[in-house]
Amino acid sequence: MTKDYAEAGKEMDYAYWSQFFAYDIGFGKPSGFVKTASDVHGLIEAFHGAAKAIGLMARCEKMKDILRSEFATKYIIPDINKESRLGRIIVTCRGENFYGESASQIDLMQHLLQAKLPGDSPLPIQDTKAELLILMFAGSDTTAATMRHLLLYALRNPKVYTRLMEEMDTFVATHPPFDVIPYDDAQSLPYFTACLRETMRIAPSTPIGMPRHRRGGITLPEPDGRYIPEHIKLICDSFVTQKDKSVYGPNTHEFNPDRWLGKGNEEKVREFEKYDLHFGGGARVCLGENIAYL
Ligand code: HEM
Repeated sequence: MTKDYAEAGKEMDYAYWSQFFAYDIGFGKPSGFVKTASDVHGLIEAFHGAAKAIGLMARCEKMKDILRSEFATKYIIPDINKESRLGRIIVTCRGENFYGESASQIDLMQHLLQAKLPGDSPLPIQDTKAELLILMFAGSDTTAATMRHLLLYALRNPKVYTRLMEEMDTFVATHPPFDVIPYDDAQSLPYFTACLRETMRIAPSTPIGMPRHRRGGITLPEPDGRYIPEHIKLICDSFVTQKDKSVYGPNTHEFNPDRWLGKGNEEKVREFEKYDLHFGGGARVCLGENIAYL
């Protein structure tokens, strides 16, 4: 990239590259998105096509009932086999016997293959495939969007950009050479971490709200005080909660990583975290949060 773009003085569209990067992980080794700078087997295109239907279904109970039916499982929901787009990628990374466990392979799929149900029986293969599809779907565009927004806000704010680059340059100058920054080291970059948190606050990747039914209904706190019965869906939208002036202060539309920093600010930061729904919350909170930080 340095050679092809920076040294050649050529413009690059980071939107594509962030996606290639996020889609490349999952099966122990890169699937070829970054190396070939292309949408391998059209997986991104297929996921984006499906996203429209999934978005609609996520809001429509009746559609969900149809999807859960045996008919849908057999004829509508795509199977992951060796001819499918995702299947062909798995073959590239894991070989032909991709539903076979391999002691040397440590990847998401291996974890699913080793997962056990209560009573110690393995996960049925249909469930493994469904989980795999969800992991790929849930983890790729969300991560790419976060990376894109981080770069966008850094470039739009020269002071932020300069401080971020200074922290990175100091890190590189004081550490042995590396290809990929180790996770613990990345966590120890305070300004970078603050920029990341502020990016996720101001531009959440899933600003669609995750619906919940409250068993037994719920009475909203005063001054509202209304009772919401059990059958009504409630949605806390991260785009709204993370701009709440009563929590984050008056300038919630301003990109200000400093709100996450500073001695004596710890209690305020804990409060911010409480209202941060970037990864959702409660029992169905995102399972890939730590992977996304990688
Ligand atoms: C910046 C990146 C990511 C964002 C913003 C994000 C966001 C979310 C959100 C908002 C939810 C719904 C939570 C809720 O209903 O309360 C979710 C669920 C989920 N995410 Fe992520 N996610 C990201 C990365 C990942 C990655 C990398 C993976 C896995 C490789 C992943 C796997 C999942 C799974 C499996 C669920 C469903 C959990 C369940 O329903 O029990 N996510 N994610």
